[in-house]
Amino acid sequence: MVQENHLPPLRIVVVISGNGSNLQAIIDASQSKLAVEICAVISNRPKAYGLQRAVIAGIKCHTIDHTEYSGRETFGAKLKQTIDQYNPDLIVLAGFMRVLSDDFVRNYPGRILNIHPSLLPKYRGLNTHAKAIAANDAYHGASVHFVTETLDGGPVIVQARLPILANDNVESLAQRVQDQEHKIYVEALQWLSQRRLIWSDGALTLDGKPLLQPIVINSEEVNEPQIV
Ligand code: GAR
Repeated sequence: MVQENHLPPLRIVVVISGNGSNLQAIIDASQSKLAVEICAVISNRPKAYGLQRAVIAGIKCHTIDHTEYSGRETFGAKLKQTIDQYNPDLIVLAGFMRVLSDDFVRNYPGRILNIHPSLLPKYRGLNTHAKAIAANDAYHGASVHFVTETLDGGPVIVQARLPILANDNVESLAQRVQDQEHKIYVEALQWLSQRRLIWSDGALTLDGKPLLQPIVINSEEVNEPQIV
């Protein structure tokens, strides 16, 4: 898709492990408003449903089964080799459930994006919905962030925040969070594709202003972002 500002679309490779609902949101948006070219989808799980989504959309797919590699470094080396043949601007982790090696991450400073199902820095790692419910948190959500060597620790761009309802369980909360994930991931990619969001030496700017804290979208709807 050619942008009004004549910038070329952002070339991305999407890396998944499972269902691929975030991948689907990106595919759908790329067919309308979002100026990204999905060069390839890579899964570490051969049976990931997201691979079927990619096939249906006519996107090249690769499986790199992590169980066939002796460790993070060898898996990371194969992942890098596969990604680099597409020379992407950005690597988009969308439900990718492996920890990447430091060596891998260091190859792509400011060029790996992740979505995590919590209001980072709360609840890094797994089982975030259960942890938020167990802690009696009033709010939960999801974060889009750049990936650094610190697990779930890179600069956060945008968060969707929603209330935990009295009758929420892990499944209902996960579903409501995922509905928001799809919106904020597309939004963050839009800002990047329009070169409005820029990472330079670890610092983020949005529309030329330092992004010192994440943009928080405080409802179940993504409206125009409020910069706080
Ligand atoms: C999403 O909820 C995403 O936030 C989470 O996995 C799910 C994948 O769903 N990612 C992580 O937990 C990464 N640490 P999807 O495959 O349907 O997009």
